[in-house]
Amino acid sequence: MDPSNGSNSGSFTDTATSNFKLIYREKVAHGVLMIVAFVILFPSAALYLRLGRSSNTVAIHGGLQIFALAVAIAGFGLGISLANKFGLLTHYHPIIGIVVVAGLAIFQPAMGLLQHRYFRRSGGKSIFAYLHRWFGRAMLALGIINVGLGFHLVREVYPSDAPWGATIAVSVVIGIVGISYILVVALTVRA
Ligand code: HEM
Repeated sequence: MDPSNGSNSGSFTDTATSNFKLIYREKVAHGVLMIVAFVILFPSAALYLRLGRSSNTVAIHGGLQIFALAVAIAGFGLGISLANKFGLLTHYHPIIGIVVVAGLAIFQPAMGLLQHRYFRRSGGKSIFAYLHRWFGRAMLALGIINVGLGFHLVREVYPSDAPWGATIAVSVVIGIVGISYILVVALTVRA
């Protein structure tokens, strides 16, 4: 519920309104951070690896992805706090979020660094390149699907907090990013 419309007075209603305001801001901040991380930052940093021409391309890719991960972890913290407040920790949206963010934080940088180290020693690709590539793509796809599930969850509880305008705008951006990703990967085929 958007609390900015309320005009109650009295200490109980004041406290209730400020709690609603706080929860509403937490919800918006969680959504914005996750959309920025999964729809914009992670895919851009992944595509940068294919389009970048500098000798530091991999290092820049790694740095950008760690920044995206920090944004996702901030959004994750807010998400856990919200799920806790609403007793939703066993709902599919938080569960998928936990799997995706934990997977990206625990495995993804390690596999990227192991491949980078292998490449510097031998100039070739190890199993870590393929694990990192496909695990990363799968987690980004799952994270983006979970953005849609988040909108769905909010709409079930407080429909006005997930307006159609925002839902459609984010869906259009997801479509453009998805098509651009597939096109760039198809046009820059690598072993
Ligand atoms: C959470 C952090 C990270 C995420 C989400 C991520 C994601 C990705 C994705 C999705 C790809 C595949 C791009 C494509 O579609 O072709 C990729 C490739 C790659 N990443 Fe990362 N990355 C992360 C961190 C790192 C780090 C820290 C390094 C090491 C410096 C690294 C090194 C690489 C390398 C070497 C490849 C090319 C693998 C190949 O040959 O396909 N990544 N990354």
